[in-house]
This record gives sequence, structure tokens and C-alpha cells, in this order.
Amino acid sequence: MTTNLQQDIIILAVESSCDDTAAAVLYNGKILANEVASQQIHELYGGIVPELASRAHQQNILPVVIMALQKAGVDKKELSAIAFTKGPGLIGSLMVGCSFAKSMAQALNVPLIGVNHMQAHVMAHFIDPPFPAFPFLCLTVSGGHTQIVKMSDYFKGEIIGKTIDDAAGEAFDKAAKMLGLPYPGGPLIDKYAQSGNPKAFLFPVPQIPDLDFSFSGLKTSFLYFIQKQVGLNPNFINENLADLCASIQFTIIKHLIKKIVLAAQKTGIKHIALAGGVSANSALRKAIQEEGIKNGWQTYIPAFEYCTDNAAMIAITAFYKYQNFDFEEMNTAPFAR
Ligand SMILES: Nc1ncnc2c1ncn2[C@@H]1O[C@H](COP(=O)(O)OP(=O)(O)OP(=O)(O)O)[C@@H](O)[C@H]1O
Ligand SMILES: [Mg+2]
Repeated sequence: MTTNLQQDIIILAVESSCDDTAAAVLYNGKILANEVASQQIHELYGGIVPELASRAHQQNILPVVIMALQKAGVDKKELSAIAFTKGPGLIGSLMVGCSFAKSMAQALNVPLIGVNHMQAHVMAHFIDPPFPAFPFLCLTVSGGHTQIVKMSDYFKGEIIGKTIDDAAGEAFDKAAKMLGLPYPGGPLIDKYAQSGNPKAFLFPVPQIPDLDFSFSGLKTSFLYFIQKQVGLNPNFINENLADLCASIQFTIIKHLIKKIVLAAQKTGIKHIALAGGVSANSALRKAIQEEGIKNGWQTYIPAFEYCTDNAAMIAITAFYKYQNFDFEEMNTAPFAR
């Protein structure tokens, strides 16, 4: 690979903020390996059990790191730095990645780089071209967050809109749970919605001022509607699963799109990016592209493997931090929020 860098930068990154144990290896800005071990155990409980997540990270982290190094063809002695997710996330889960990264950095005598998970979701756009031009707006929609971030530079981001209650991913997962679907339900709603009618059932699009979001009222109205219909016909969900998925998905996306349109109008910015786990949703990807054509935006949609939690996004963020000599002290500790 040709590079202007004075020396090669090879980074091992680990991500352990929630229920995915991930490791990636980056070589001068290029991702050589991106491994994820997802934890199936939480399906049994219909949501993430923090204690079980921490234990599973503890079991998975070394095999995932070894796999990433092997796939990249990189020996640990070649590493320039070790990066980890500092937060936000589940504290017990974060501790596993942080302690692992510290030990490895100490043993190899290389710098330690702490990365903010939400910043990394946005920075995933700098893994593969076309890279967004600054300033751009990023609609970051994930399991724990829903934000519109105005990015003026790599590390200059301003949150100009956010959810006042649940996140979009949570809305997908809770709606799925009400339909009897396993956790995480977002991808299943996406799948069933593809054969459903998005206008079969009408739910109120949340009305929240400015650029903020809210999903709790929608969640309640979906719950009451289902309870009422199941009371009248116990087979209601089975008979209407695709239409229910398509209708709730349509309403969530309508709320998201309305707000990003408003943000673009207010800021005059026409470079619009999508990030976070919910950006894997096929209807949202399509909706933002269509809206982009209508409004003359340049839109940036991440590759699927960089939407949900992954260590490649931690590695690329660390790559830019490395060049700014932005390193962690060895007494650093993760933060939950
Ligand atoms: N195709 C899809 N359609 C809708 N939602 C999806 C899809 N794929 C994933 N999701 C949702 O994305 C969320 C997971 O995203 P992500 O891994 O970024 O969240 P997180 O890391 O738990 O939260 P955060 O990034 O806010 O800390 C889940 O809520 C999941 O249901
Ligand atoms: Mg995430």
C-alpha cells in the first residue's frame, strides 16, 4: 500500500461495549481484519443481561483477537498501538476490553488509544471511500442512541438533535418483542416488513419540537393497538406479522427522515451520512437515498459490516487519534455514559 506516512501505523482495536466482542487490525488506514463474536445467550432473555455479557466478553476476547491477527497476517510485535472502546456502554463489558487493551499495550510497550463508541460509529465513514466532505450531518441511530451530529472535522462533532427517551434501535427491538420475535428484533422487523404493507396500520408519527426525537409514545400506542387486536382475535399477530412490521418500521423511519430533512434545512448542509446499527435497515437506507435525490444531498451509507458494533470503526478512529498523538494514560478507566 502506498502511503505518505513516515512510518507504518498498525493498530489492533477491540470493541466490547455491549454484546459483541470484536477485534480489528488496521494497516495505514486500511482494515485488514474485522472479526466479531456475537453473544447468542441474550436471545433466551429477550434482551441483554449485563453480567452474562461481561462473562462472554471475557471468554471471547482472546480468541477473537488471535483470529483478527491471523487473518491480517500481522504479528503482535508489529503493532504500533492498541485501541479499545472507552465508552459509552455497559461498564462490565467495557472493563473487559479496557483491561485487555491496557495489558497488551503494556506488554508490547506501545501507546494505548481510548475511543468513544458513538464517535466511532460516525468515523466508520472514513474506512472506505467515498469519505464524507466536512461539514456533514450524521444521523446516528443505534441500540442506545439516536442523534443528529454536525461534523465540522474528524474530532469536531456537535450533537444538534437527540432522543428524549428511547433510541430508534430500542423502538425496533421493543416492537419486535411485542410481536413475539426474539432479541434483537430490529433485523427481523426489517425482514418481515419486506413482504408487508407499510400503510396497513397507521401509528402516530411522534411530534417533538426542533431536532429531537421520541419513541416512547409510539411504543405505547403500538402496544395498546396490539393488545386490543389480540383481545379480539388471538391470531391477529400471526395473521398480520408482515403488515405490522412494515407499518411500525414505516412510522419509525418517517420520524427519523423528517428530522434529518429539518436539520439539513436549518444548517444548509447537504452532505448527509447515516450510522449505527439501525443504519443496516434496508428501508431506512432506501429512504435516505430517495430523500437525498429529492433534496440534492450527497448521501453516505455505511457498508453493512460497519453498521452494527464492530472493531473496524474503533480502529479507524484510533488511526486518526494516533496521528494526533492522542493517547491514554495507563490509569484510564471506561465510562458507562
Ligand atoms: N436491519 C435492521 N433494522 C432495524 N434495526 C436494526 C437492524 N439491524 C440492527 N438493528 C438494530 O441496531 C441495534 C444495534 O445497533 P448497535 O450495535 O450500534 O447498538 P448498540 O451498540 O447496542 O448501542 P449504542 O451504539 O447506542 O451504544 C439494535 O437495536 C438492532 O435491533
Ligand atoms: Mg453501537
